[in-house]
Amino acid sequence: MNLMLFGAPGAGKGTQAKFLIEKYGIPQISTGDILREAVKNETEMGKEAKRYMDDGKLVPDNIIIGIIKDRLKEEDCKSGFILDGFPRTIPQAEALEELLKELNISLDKVISLNVPDEDIIERITGRRVSKSTGKIYHIKFNPPVDEKEEDLYQRADDTEETVKKRLDAYHNQTAPLFDFYKNKGILVEIDGTKTVNEVTKDIIAVLN
Ligand code: AP5
Repeated sequence: MNLMLFGAPGAGKGTQAKFLIEKYGIPQISTGDILREAVKNETEMGKEAKRYMDDGKLVPDNIIIGIIKDRLKEEDCKSGFILDGFPRTIPQAEALEELLKELNISLDKVISLNVPDEDIIERITGRRVSKSTGKIYHIKFNPPVDEKEEDLYQRADDTEETVKKRLDAYHNQTAPLFDFYKNKGILVEIDGTKTVNEVTKDIIAVLN
C-alpha cells in the first residue's frame, strides 16, 4: 500500500503515521524528520535546509526531490510506504510521478486531513515530542503518559511566529496539490478535527 498523508502543518500527519506504520507494517517517509536529522548531524544539506526551516519556508525542491529519490529506492519501501510532508509543491508532485513511473508503482490513496487554520496554532505551540521514541504529544489534547519531562522537547520551528509563516507557505505552495490529487481520483478527505483515535478509525475505514 502506497499512501500519502496530506494536510496543513499540525493537521496530525505525523501522529496518524505512527499508528499506520504499526497497523500496516510499512515505513513512514517524513521529509521533515529526514531534514531535522540532517540539521542535527550538521551535514551540508542540513545546514542549507536549516536556514529555510527556521524561517518557516519550504526547503528548495531540488534538495527534497534528491532525498526522496534515494529513500523510495530502499528495500523497506518495496511493500509500501507512507509519505508524510511530501510532496509539498507541484514540481515535487511531478517529480514523484516520474519516480513512481520509473519504479513501476503508483500512489494508492492520498489522505487529506482537514483542519482549519484557527486550530493549527494551538496544536503546534502545544506539541511536545519524545527524544527517545519520537512519539508526538500535545500538552492539552494528547498529554504524555509515562514520559520523563526531560525526555520531551519542543521543535525549534513550533513558535507562533513561525507557524504563521508555515501556514502561508502551505496555502500558497502546498494547497494546490489538493486539486492535483483530487483530479486523479485518489484523494480522500478526513475530518482531522475529531479526536486522535476517531481520526485513526476513519482512516482505517477508508483504507479497508
Ligand atoms: P514537517 O516536519 O513536515 O512539518 P509540517 O508539515 O509543518 O507538519 P507538522 O510535523 O508540523 O505537523 P503534523 O501534520 O505532522 O502534525 P502532528 O501529528 O505532529 O516540516 C517542517 C519543515 O521542514 C517545513 O516547514 C519545511 O521547512 C521543511 N520541509 C519538510 N518537508 C518539506 C518538503 N516536502 N518541501 C519543502 N520543505 C519541506 O500534530 C501536531 C500537534 O497536534 C501534536 O501536538 C499532536 O499531538 C496534536 N494532534 C494531532 N492530532 C490531533 C487531533 N486529532 N486532535 C487534537 N490534537 C491533535
